Amino acid sequence: VQQAYVHLESRGLIKAMPKSGFYVNSFHRERLPDPESLLGSLVSSEVAVSELVSNHFLAARDPLMVPLGAACPSPELFPSSRLNRILRELAREVPLHSSEYEFPPGSMSLRRQIARRSIQWGCKLSPSEIVTTSGGMEAINLCLRAIAEPGDTIALESPTYFGILQSIESLKMRALEIPSDPRHGMDLDVLKQAVRKTKIKACVVISNFNNPLGSLMPDENKKRIAEILIPRGIPIIEEDFYGDLAFNGIRPKDIKSFDVDGWVMLCSSFSKTLAPGFRIGWTAPGRFQAQVERLKFVNTVATPSLPQMVIAEYLENGGYDRHIRKLRQAFSVQIQRVAQAVLRCFPEGTQVSRPEGGFVLWVELPKEVDSIRLHQLALRQKISILPGAVFSPSGRYRNFIRLNCGNVWTPQIEAALATLGTLCRSFS
Ligand SMILES: Cc1ncc(COP(=O)(O)O)c(C=O)c1O
Repeated sequence: VQQAYVHLESRGLIKAMPKSGFYVNSFHRERLPDPESLLGSLVSSEVAVSELVSNHFLAARDPLMVPLGAACPSPELFPSSRLNRILRELAREVPLHSSEYEFPPGSMSLRRQIARRSIQWGCKLSPSEIVTTSGGMEAINLCLRAIAEPGDTIALESPTYFGILQSIESLKMRALEIPSDPRHGMDLDVLKQAVRKTKIKACVVISNFNNPLGSLMPDENKKRIAEILIPRGIPIIEEDFYGDLAFNGIRPKDIKSFDVDGWVMLCSSFSKTLAPGFRIGWTAPGRFQAQVERLKFVNTVATPSLPQMVIAEYLENGGYDRHIRKLRQAFSVQIQRVAQAVLRCFPEGTQVSRPEGGFVLWVELPKEVDSIRLHQLALRQKISILPGAVFSPSGRYRNFIRLNCGNVWTPQIEAALATLGTLCRSFS
């Protein structure tokens, strides 16, 4: 036992407290550096991440790949058999479900369930304020198109989810990176400076457990961002895909709960918690609802009916809260295990984020590691990761990677992380 203590202490996993025994160390090393230092001047840029992202997803399709790239939980963590049972029952009970369009704003039963839950986020939405969409990405696209045009500047967190960048790129808009702290998200002093200096058409924020940073914007910042942007007539597209996945079980509020007059367009989906393959998302677009509904009709006419019905029924009677409790627990354990393995296997100087929810880790590697090259080397070893550059419109974060921790821990994942550590060392 003594030897085990010595061994664990030498690996930094536990620490001795005088007259008190051994305690498990927080699994993180120091805080990631203040990302503000990563930014130069506040200027908007064109976005060109799509090629890098598509190359990644093409290569990562290989079923033998260890999936540390795309932010996807292991299939066994989703309640698929319960959803399948509901699907069979509904198909039997409503045999004509496929014979009509579910025109925007979408399924009433699903919107009712989302509205019922919105009280937990401090929003008190009514079903009539919600529009269902084909996945969360459609919600984001529709919101951007409803309020901005080619050439307009969109402020966003740096780093941020590459899907937002791809959407901005495809719409020929420009992006303005606002530095973001791995704990508290967007730096609002810099945002305030930016809105004084530049004409910003909208601001996109992942308020709860940002992907890839894992940051959680505190309530006072949520209130403050609304106070900075709304009086200037700048809409906020708020993404909250991970809020249900807070490890402490306390559901964080949304910026939308501080909204005045419908300037916050809240977007979410069930892809991270229930069924990515159903492609069901939604938005509460506030004062821009009419435009969003019109664009939804132009884009895909309607959202498929049966998956909406299944999710509505699951939210009402399927045990969503129990499922989410289990999922949170699983992600919290998986995050810990991956972070510990990274700190054990990666070179000195590696730092790891400390998210309090969600299931991705943001890893800073020593400066000499080029994560795009690392990504290529890893793919050859059948390991997928995402290089930091896809999370920035200006190609920052060359020595960062994002790791998906949605997978149940296996020896294969452990071995893959050890291999990644070895590959990182090959750069020095
Ligand atoms: C922040 C964020 N927004 C949007 C999406 C895409 O969601 P969906 O699969 O519902 O389109 C993701 C998926 O990784 C995400 O992390």
